[in-house]
Amino acid sequence: MTELERKHDRTPVPKEWAYAPAPESRDVVSLDERYGHYVGGQWLEPSETYTTISPASEEPLAEVGQATPEEVEAAVAAARDAFENGWSGASAAERAKYLFRIARILQERSREFAVLESLNGGKPIKESRDVDLPLAAAHFFYYAGWADKLEYAFPNRRPRPVGVAGQIIPWNFPLLMLSWKIAPALAAGNTVVLKPAETTPLSALLFADVLRQAELPPGVVNIVTGDGRTGAALVKSEGVDKIAFTGSTDVGKAIQRELAGTGKKLTLELGGKAANIIFDDAAIDQAVEGIVNGIYFNQGHVCCAGSRLLVQESIYEPVVEKLKRRLTTLRVGDPLDKNTDVGAINSEQQLDKIRELVESGEQEGAEIYQPPCRLPEKGYWFAPTVFTNVAQSYRIAQEEIFGPVLSVLTFRTPEEAVEKANNTPYGLSAGVWTEKGSRILWMAQRLRAGVVWANTFNRFDPSSPFGGYKESGFGREGGRHGLEPYMQFDGSEHFSG
Ligand code: NAI
Ligand code: MG
Repeated sequence: MTELERKHDRTPVPKEWAYAPAPESRDVVSLDERYGHYVGGQWLEPSETYTTISPASEEPLAEVGQATPEEVEAAVAAARDAFENGWSGASAAERAKYLFRIARILQERSREFAVLESLNGGKPIKESRDVDLPLAAAHFFYYAGWADKLEYAFPNRRPRPVGVAGQIIPWNFPLLMLSWKIAPALAAGNTVVLKPAETTPLSALLFADVLRQAELPPGVVNIVTGDGRTGAALVKSEGVDKIAFTGSTDVGKAIQRELAGTGKKLTLELGGKAANIIFDDAAIDQAVEGIVNGIYFNQGHVCCAGSRLLVQESIYEPVVEKLKRRLTTLRVGDPLDKNTDVGAINSEQQLDKIRELVESGEQEGAEIYQPPCRLPEKGYWFAPTVFTNVAQSYRIAQEEIFGPVLSVLTFRTPEEAVEKANNTPYGLSAGVWTEKGSRILWMAQRLRAGVVWANTFNRFDPSSPFGGYKESGFGREGGRHGLEPYMQFDGSEHFSG
């Protein structure tokens, strides 16, 4: 026997070709038993607390504060004090210095943050490691660069900070949304009170430690945790000059009503029901990857998710067949496993909402497909789902599901695609897949969406503004545009002469 043949004999043939477990270590994160509110650079003992859990296992992770209106006021007062006594008068290069430091520390501690984000939020470690963390650091890095160039960004308009910004963020990209909000606010010279979502407070609380390491002056960033009541108290606080909100359209509307007539500035980034439009000349395999990335990324907990697939009729069958086959290869399970593609649903409440809408889809007559997959017993899970035979009037074609659920519709002509894509109260994003450059431009001009991706989906960059039309909200985040809501201008005297 040759040496090679002998080796073959000794190496066992695998019984199956499934992926072996590849767990990321939890040990890189050390959690306190209990967290307070981060106010004026100190930890404030909370008067009320609740337990935050891991949605993948329902395991309790820590006790966190449920901030009362008084505690919110203490945070707002600390932010006001920091604004007036130093931060707004600090040199722009000095502000940039802190932002660069934060960017660098986030990069250095990225593994720790990625694990914590997956633990508390349920998203696959692959995504928190490769998307959330690099992008969060990139936002601080990007806005650090603007801090001393505001006069160039807005020539002849004398940009000045607004004051104290109240920022309320959701649970789908906790640290990334924090970065989208805090980086431009500080670059423009404001101070901040931030409230993370009630289900995912831990990465914001760890971020307070980054602020300590960066030696950011006390009170420039304050973090209060709690549910919608805490958010409502922040919106109501008279000491706040600007509110930035990302979340549901209902709460966005309530905030807008509350602030009407107060003179406070407001930006809203709300829901979406994006169309992902595939023309018959598109590269189908690439498009299928784009469809999967568009709706199953982050369990579909994405405001700009491509939740309505519009396929040109002539390629409907091959696209749906390839898509279904691709779904069978998605691995659903432990968010901390490096091979997981689809993690846990963020909360029981969100799972209930997904279930209700999926049930409505079945009742209204759509055809459901789910690949065979075994879901873990504990925690909140939902299998990747495709609905075909969907009419535009069905709830699953109209309402934001915010889960791994895709509704497939068809069209014949580009005009029909535009009409169907725009037939929604939302207008956040859209995708177009075609080989023809002229058709991309033709479509982009007609789609009522803040972002239109061409031959790709869910691509983000700090230099690119993001935001919506209609019920998706107003105001832009990212890019130079993202600075504007955090500044006031008095350009009128310049314009007149
Ligand atoms: P939500 O809008 O209630 O929560 C978002 C944030 O707003 C959280 O920090 C929450 O504590 C806070 N909040 C809640 N009520 C408030 C109030 N009255 N005043 C001030 N702040 C308040 O969203 P929820 O209930 O977590 O999710 C419901 C649906 O909203 C989802 O199924 C999804 O369709 C949509 N959503 C959209 C998001 C987006 O990125 N555009 C993010 C999260 C949810
Ligand atoms: Mg809510």
